[in-house]
Amino acid sequence: MPGRQNRFVVTLTRRLPEAVESRLAARYELIRNSDDRPLAVDGIIAAMKASDAIVSTLGDPLAADALNAGAGRCRLIAHFGVGYDNIDLAVAKERGVAVTNTPGVLTDDTADMTMLLLLAAARRANEGVREIQYGTWSGWRPTHLLGRRLSGKTLGLVGFGRIGRAVAERAAAGFGMHVQAWSRSLGITEAAAAGVIRCDSLDTLLSTSDFVSLHVPRTPETHHLLDARRLALLPTHAVLVNTARGDVIDQSALIDALTRNAFAGAGLDVFEGEPAVPEALVALSNVFALPHIGSATIETRTAMGNLAADNLDAFFDGRPLPNPVN
Ligand code: NAP
Ligand code: GLV
Repeated sequence: MPGRQNRFVVTLTRRLPEAVESRLAARYELIRNSDDRPLAVDGIIAAMKASDAIVSTLGDPLAADALNAGAGRCRLIAHFGVGYDNIDLAVAKERGVAVTNTPGVLTDDTADMTMLLLLAAARRANEGVREIQYGTWSGWRPTHLLGRRLSGKTLGLVGFGRIGRAVAERAAAGFGMHVQAWSRSLGITEAAAAGVIRCDSLDTLLSTSDFVSLHVPRTPETHHLLDARRLALLPTHAVLVNTARGDVIDQSALIDALTRNAFAGAGLDVFEGEPAVPEALVALSNVFALPHIGSATIETRTAMGNLAADNLDAFFDGRPLPNPVN
């Protein structure tokens, strides 16, 4: 390990919780993004050229062009997040850049946020919030803003990894929901051991669930996994929740379906092309939308930062990486 004057240089592409930055600063020469604005490709290239490692986040454009142009000095991308779909892993590997992520520590808080979105969309929270905000509430009445209850209903999970399973536990134990799930490799026995029913196809899951929640990564295979045809399979009373990635749903088809009230509503934490959110989506009162804050608690963001730091430390100590992804 170099002496204090000759420490490894690490660029943080965004500001991290204070405790994490302090930990990192004790060991590394840190380059911080002082105004905390997203770095464009040029900024990423400069960061890679100036550092031995970078701590990246989900908005950073780490596609082939940036990696090819920036590679040389940087040997590790310690990604702050579980989803690393913004990083071209193959090019990183070709360029000798290791990539790590931060799985597990954000599972519970993202599952909690999923329950929040399920409840908010089912109980028409956005319509209620708008009445309060715009002063249009005319008082209590028995038929005002009647939503749907979660208890006793069927929840369909698309993807049954860490977050999908944590949602299943909350939905079954906390709300008495019947949970069914679908993913490529989920077997009947494995599903039964987790207390859920395995659906034999995504189409079956969509057409037989009262609530559907998405928990797959963003990959070429999951791009527009829920397209117009599949959205049309949802029952008219269904609620759809997405805390995975925006482009797992064809957003234009989603807006079209919700505008026609083809199903009851949606709870969204992620968007295609975020942070832009189309006016047509914002205008829909049957959508409860949040700005990608699924893992946003001080506890989780600190744990994510510490896990990224554990990966940096292991890398520069020459120990096996705790969370390698390439
Ligand atoms: P995980 O444990 O790896 O689970 C992913 C699940 O998706 C697995 O069940 C996997 O099973 C399934 N899957 C993968 N590719 C698939 C495909 N092509 N078709 C169907 N199923 C597929 O990941 P996780 O920790 O639960 O996180 C899931 C995703 O949530 C992340 O990748 C990230 O994008 C998102 N996320 C969002 C937030 C937020 O703030 N909103 C926070 C954390 C995570 P099979 O391999 O059997 O298919
Ligand atoms: C957040 O969306 C993550 O992938 O960690």
